[in-house]
Amino acid sequence: MPTVAVTRVIPEAGLKLLRDAAEIRLWEEELPPDAAALAELLQGCDGALTLLTDTIDGAVLDREPNLKVISNFAVGYDNVDVPAATARGVAVCNTPDVLTETTADFAWALLMAAARRVVEGADYVRAGKWQTWGPTLLLGRDLTGATLGIVGFGRIGREVAKRARGFEMRVLAFDAFPDETVARELGAELRSLDDLLRESDFVTLHVALTPETHQMMGTRELGLMKPEAILVNAARGPVVDTGALVTALRDGVIGGAALDVTDPEPLPVDHPLVALPNALVVPHMASATVATRDRMAEVAARNLLAVLRSERPAHIVNPEVLERER
Ligand code: DGY
Repeated sequence: MPTVAVTRVIPEAGLKLLRDAAEIRLWEEELPPDAAALAELLQGCDGALTLLTDTIDGAVLDREPNLKVISNFAVGYDNVDVPAATARGVAVCNTPDVLTETTADFAWALLMAAARRVVEGADYVRAGKWQTWGPTLLLGRDLTGATLGIVGFGRIGREVAKRARGFEMRVLAFDAFPDETVARELGAELRSLDDLLRESDFVTLHVALTPETHQMMGTRELGLMKPEAILVNAARGPVVDTGALVTALRDGVIGGAALDVTDPEPLPVDHPLVALPNALVVPHMASATVATRDRMAEVAARNLLAVLRSERPAHIVNPEVLERER
């Protein structure tokens, strides 16, 4: 039987598949293994089921010549040095599709919570401040009829656009590789990033983290947004320049931000973003539903086992590794 490292307890749907086919080495702590513990866990393994909190680079891979597959329990794989894996013939897999709707739903949850100040309202009640109904108490912004800018018009961005129809919003979209047909079908108008930022009341980010998207939202870009606009990030924290965002929120350059992801992650409790009243921060939970996490576990396990059986996994980000084996 092959030996497989699993770097955190994932839903049983995935663990069972792995247990039936491999010897499992499971990291059972709540916090991720540090570099030394990860190295120990991976020692002699044929495959690894990893999380976005595990850094898998060339040095890690060099220590494990038996390793054939890194199966990431996420659609994003910026924690894995894919060129390094490819150079060493290691397959890298991910879990797209199964979390698309769940993540889009959550971007909407953030959008609505920030626009209508839901969390501030709950905090107000908890703090014992609720004394009467007030005509100017906790006034928010309407979504209906407003303009939504979607940055990154891939799978998740498109699902966000579908949901905007119910709110009769005007939808603008920016993508590095724009598809006019899809945009038309979804009722979205394609824009340059700058125009989208200038015209939108709400901006939501759905790009993968790459060298091109790293800090794509900096001082200049935030400065293009409307002063009352709200920024939602359910993509990756480093897509936004955190320092620039803090300044923009503090100085009223933009109206607010709702962040599922941050840079750094986790965000220390004494970080300025946590204290800002116009920032809503939650702990990277956009795909966190019972059904979706079960599906992610299953897909990640199946991807991993497929590579170990020399079959083609459903989702591989460096398929050239498989071609080379033939
Ligand atoms: C992903 O899959 O990349 C998310 O960030 C976690 O579900």
